[in-house]
Amino acid sequence: MKIAILGGTGPEGSGLGLRWAASGHEVIIGSRLAEKGITVANELKALLPEGHISGTDNLTASQEAELIVLAVPYGAQESTMAHVREAVIGKLLVTVVAPTQKPKARVWRLPSGLSAAEELQIQLGPEARIVAAFQNIGAHQLMDLDFDLDCDVLICGNSKQDKEIAAELCTDAGLNGVNAGSLQNSSVLEGLTSVLIGINIRNKVKSAGIRITGI
Ligand SMILES: NC(=O)c1ccc[n+]([C@@H]2O[C@H](COP(=O)([O-])OP(=O)(O)OC[C@H]3O[C@@H](n4cnc5c(N)ncnc54)[C@H](OP(=O)(O)O)[C@@H]3O)[C@@H](O)[C@H]2O)c1
Repeated sequence: MKIAILGGTGPEGSGLGLRWAASGHEVIIGSRLAEKGITVANELKALLPEGHISGTDNLTASQEAELIVLAVPYGAQESTMAHVREAVIGKLLVTVVAPTQKPKARVWRLPSGLSAAEELQIQLGPEARIVAAFQNIGAHQLMDLDFDLDCDVLICGNSKQDKEIAAELCTDAGLNGVNAGSLQNSSVLEGLTSVLIGINIRNKVKSAGIRITGI
């Protein structure tokens, strides 16, 4: 698939992009600045010369791709999506956004009573195809393609078919996707990010993750 990663210049988007490119997807690194997207894409290509990785601005990336991944900080979600809205409607949008807030990212707060993914659905309207996933996968080891992440990825969304596509993306990134229900459940995924940040801090590690047992 041709995958655009908005904010793909950050560690989370870059790491996922590298893994998807390694599994054969065509990855477009989106940025507010096309030059920055190109620079980061070139850095990723240096790690994976055979990968199909390019960079451009977020709008062009959204127009060119079949599937969009939103990987910007929560505070940038609304403005980023307002900019690319027309290019995204009708395509699957996978959001990795977790609204963690400094200075205490390890403490979960619901900014609006809704999850960031539900706010996205309201902003884009009911026709938007939104799936929340990868909130609980730390960026730290994504770049190391030989590292076994040994994690499950909880996937929330209102379309079973779209969640199956997201689960394939999990597999392609070396992870295991688990259907975690409707988009309404996505606040649990987002809140779990703060819990995992706290676990990382308390255990002096960088990549605490989760595994669902019994299935
Ligand atoms: N890092 C992790 O371990 C991790 C784990 C799970 C989930 N997440 C979630 O994944 C998302 C991305 O994480 P990250 O650590 O990669 O984030 P980041 O480095 O802080 O930001 C990613 C990119 O977003 C763009 N951006 C930053 N501030 C912006 C603003 N004010 N307006 C518009 N664009 C802005 C920047 O791209 P340009 O300057 O190129 O436009 C930046 O490179 C976040 O929502 C985070 O909660 C992260």
